[in-house]
Amino acid sequence: MLLRPAPDVIETARLRLRRPLSSDARQIFTRYASDPDVTRYMSFRCHRSLADTTMFIDFSNIEWAANGCGPYVVVLRDSDILLGGTGLTLQEDEAETGYLFARDAWGLGYASESLAAIVEMARSIGVRALHAHCHPDHRASIRVLEKCGFTFEHRAKAAHVFPNLDSVKQDVLSYILSFERRTEPSPPC
Ligand SMILES: CC(C)(COP(=O)(O)OP(=O)(O)OC[C@H]1O[C@@H](n2cnc3c(N)ncnc32)[C@H](O)[C@@H]1OP(=O)(O)O)[C@@H](O)C(=O)NCCC(=O)NCCS
Repeated sequence: MLLRPAPDVIETARLRLRRPLSSDARQIFTRYASDPDVTRYMSFRCHRSLADTTMFIDFSNIEWAANGCGPYVVVLRDSDILLGGTGLTLQEDEAETGYLFARDAWGLGYASESLAAIVEMARSIGVRALHAHCHPDHRASIRVLEKCGFTFEHRAKAAHVFPNLDSVKQDVLSYILSFERRTEPSPPC
């Protein structure tokens, strides 16, 4: 159970993270959700029509209504250009996060900047731990997680089908960032 709902808008030095709107669907579709290079390691199928993206917006609205948090789109603060998406999926008092960015936005530090903001927001609303999963070959994503303080937890063998790769189950790396404070033993009198 969250202490409080997530904010609708989060701002960083260069970025604005905000709840997806119905009017974002076309841009989400054309900028990244229909791009095979962007969706290669994602767990959802590459979008083939705008209807797929509209279903994502519907899913987002349901998540926000049910859990007080959910997906965010990431836009440039100065120009409102859509760069990508991230968010939180609540699982009791812990949450899963992920991120994806349009190809022309790769390599500029945007994933790390938005994940750092998600981490701070999750901590502030009472999430106990954040989880993330990725394909073992995805070095860039692993680097983003490590830069933002996640630690490697385990490698699950043949655990997940990545629908845009092939139908064979692949290994999955699990990462965690825990916010729980360790209780230090009381000092001796
Ligand atoms: C993975 C992804 C989110 C990274 O976004 P990004 O904005 O380019 O990430 P950042 O610039 O914040 O950081 C990337 C880091 O990975 C490093 N990196 C990139 N490619 C790498 C590679 N092949 N091997 C090792 N490190 C790599 C970069 O050098 C950078 O680290 P640095 O800051 O120490 O130099 C982006 O490529 C993407 O959207 N991919 C498609 C969607 C996706 O796969 N999402 C993740 C699913 S788990």
